[in-house]
Amino acid sequence: MNPVLSLRGVSRRFGTVQALLGVDLDFGSGVHAVLGENGAGKSTAIKILAGLDQPDTGTVELDGNPVRLRTRDSAIEQGIGLIPQNGSLVGELTLLENLALTQPRQLIRRRHVREVLDAAAISAALPIDMTTPVKRLGRAQQQLGELALAVAQGARILLLDEPTSVLDADEIHGLHVKLREFAHDGITVVLITHHLHEVRAVADAATVLSHGTVSWSGQVADVDDLSLARAMVGELPSSTPPPRPPIGDDAEPALVLDGVWAATDDLAPVRDINLSVRPREIVAVTGTAGSGQRALAEAAAAVVQPERGTRRVTGAVAYIPERRADALLPSLPLKWSAVLPRLRDRRFTRFGMVRQNAVDEFARDLLARFDVRPPDPDLSADALSGGNAQKLVMGRELDVAPAVAVVHAPTQGLDLRAAQQSRELILATAAAGAAVLLLSADHEEARTLADRVLVLRDGRIVGEHTAVEYDDAVHRLVDVRPNEDGTA
Ligand SMILES: Nc1ncnc2c1ncn2[C@@H]1O[C@H](COP(=O)(O)OP(=O)(O)O)[C@@H](O)[C@H]1O
Ligand SMILES: [Mg+2]
Repeated sequence: MNPVLSLRGVSRRFGTVQALLGVDLDFGSGVHAVLGENGAGKSTAIKILAGLDQPDTGTVELDGNPVRLRTRDSAIEQGIGLIPQNGSLVGELTLLENLALTQPRQLIRRRHVREVLDAAAISAALPIDMTTPVKRLGRAQQQLGELALAVAQGARILLLDEPTSVLDADEIHGLHVKLREFAHDGITVVLITHHLHEVRAVADAATVLSHGTVSWSGQVADVDDLSLARAMVGELPSSTPPPRPPIGDDAEPALVLDGVWAATDDLAPVRDINLSVRPREIVAVTGTAGSGQRALAEAAAAVVQPERGTRRVTGAVAYIPERRADALLPSLPLKWSAVLPRLRDRRFTRFGMVRQNAVDEFARDLLARFDVRPPDPDLSADALSGGNAQKLVMGRELDVAPAVAVVHAPTQGLDLRAAQQSRELILATAAAGAAVLLLSADHEEARTLADRVLVLRDGRIVGEHTAVEYDDAVHRLVDVRPNEDGTA
């Protein structure tokens, strides 16, 4: 293989965290997967390759020659395109305007910008909407837009940082097809993912990062899944969920939604929702993107008030939102996010004064118990990786033995170990007596965690299954789409 883009002996340190240590990487033609747990150093490596960050030591090589990528622009000039983890587009602007923004000199020639983007979209066969503000496009459309933008900027290398963590199964498949086409056209594609089935589906070669070093690299055809998983996490922890006392049939529900209609932002609303969850019960709601999960979650957690109908709960409600950033104070030291719901406790504030020591101590303990890395209460909350932000929010919300827990997409974007920790925490919360409403697009997760599974489509509940029935029904739901009767 002739490497197109490489890292040679790259190290990068942030404060006390060694994000990368002596990393050698080679990306040649085709699709190359980069795997690793949350915090393994994947995004740091990609940022260095994209000119967004500089190594402390070591070099980037392009076609075997050292290059200095001091800025994002210098990497773009070298043909290095980036589709970052959290999107890079300005939501208020259209794709056209976003492209214009990256090419200020072209701005005066709006027509030219349109031609460039049209040409890129056509040559890459990307069906995209260029004239709607980006924030109104779905996540899949936004990503295609990012891809078109990168191609329009002349990319011959595409770096994608966990692009599939927010997509549903169909959208993931669509993206994979696109990536194979790019590879066929000679573009080097680098795809960060946690999912071994994705690596199998789309990648020719793979590199595994673990704690900042390369733990495996080679052709995908030469390796089995277990070896890849071991390279990612070492030996996999074995899972022993706590036993859950049986749910009494006559137990009073702790959460009831009675004929609830609700809407949030400009997302899909829900209509006439009737559901109840008893203490110790886990009820899952599945549905593809756009079926109203966010509105349902926010109505259940009392973030929004129902437009019609009523919501009843019997005690404290924990809420883990889909967008973890919504539950954090991003630019402050993360101890403030850790203590947020309890800040008014006398333990933390007296006579309007915050007791710094108590806050520090509490945060340190919470970070340790929920395995948030790095366990530094003074680190800015937005420096946490997605998985660690999730551990922080879940730990904070579920640590107080809530009567009701509304948990939205708890393992979205998490690596194997973090996903397992997150599922175990949900089971333990239910075992401790909480009524859990779980919203998840992951059928497997719904089936394995929940006692009952409700199917949400176009804002209505169109089916209810016990976990056992669901196993069977899910195949039919996945195979037969859309517009089929969801109760099938
Ligand atoms: N700007 C930063 N400041 C402090 N720590 C950081 C920063 N960026 C990354 N880190 C830390 O470096 C490690 C690797 O992070 P990252 O490359 O984002 O991992 P991954 O993408 O594999 O989840 C993590 O421990 C993370 O918290
Ligand atoms: Mg990352």
